[in-house]
Amino acid sequence: MIDIHHHLLPGLDDGPADLEISIAMAEMSLQNGVTHIVCTPHANDRFHFDPAANAERMAVVAQRLGDRVTLAPGCDFHLMYDNIEDAIANPAKYSINGKGYLLVEFPEQSIPNKMDEIFFRLNLAGLTSIITHPERNPLLARHPERMTEWLRAGCYVQITAASLTGRFGKQAQKVAHALLRRNWVHFVATDAHDLSSRPPKLREAYNLVAAEYGRETAERLCVENPRAAFYGEPLPAQPEAEGLGREQSRNGSGLIHRMFGR
Ligand SMILES: [Fe+2]
Repeated sequence: MIDIHHHLLPGLDDGPADLEISIAMAEMSLQNGVTHIVCTPHANDRFHFDPAANAERMAVVAQRLGDRVTLAPGCDFHLMYDNIEDAIANPAKYSINGKGYLLVEFPEQSIPNKMDEIFFRLNLAGLTSIITHPERNPLLARHPERMTEWLRAGCYVQITAASLTGRFGKQAQKVAHALLRRNWVHFVATDAHDLSSRPPKLREAYNLVAAEYGRETAERLCVENPRAAFYGEPLPAQPEAEGLGREQSRNGSGLIHRMFGR
């Protein structure tokens, strides 16, 4: 499996405080069957994102782990004006392995105006946006239909492994499954921060998805799509997402509301 959202690097953000915790987290990923990890420190107003410092830490971690795991740089990219403009000017800087897929985290308080335009501009710069854990965002969890246009425009969705098992509460769990059932999910990743409260456990989520939605789906979300993003390739053909088709859009938002049980 390939984990595209993982705060593996030590001493950079609210992930592991030191190298030993970092190595223990990588060992846990390995035990879970993960072979590739994208190291995604935050870029927000609390944590400065410095690719050179990240590369340095990644080299230290990689040296300790040897060839048992393949690491790549990435970013937990928060939607802020400065970040957006900088990513458009430097598309490789924040994207997964520098190859064009960008993890995009929405603020919790409000959805920025003109998101269609922002995604369009990111896309023109060569970036494919992956909306991270909408099931954990209070606004998107309450109104997943807000993502309809963005998915139509080619954005993808990543949910957090532990949301599926209820670690982030009932609402996040319910929304994660609702999104999965409608084929609105393209990636499952751990968003690991530590060894205990937010550990890098992907296996349990893989097994749960395989049991409830089929092994093919688990492979697609935990292996095939993440591998394509890791290497900057187009995703393989995806099952059709419910509620995004032209026929359904004519029915207005009522259908989407019904889809999400409201
Ligand atoms: Fe994260």
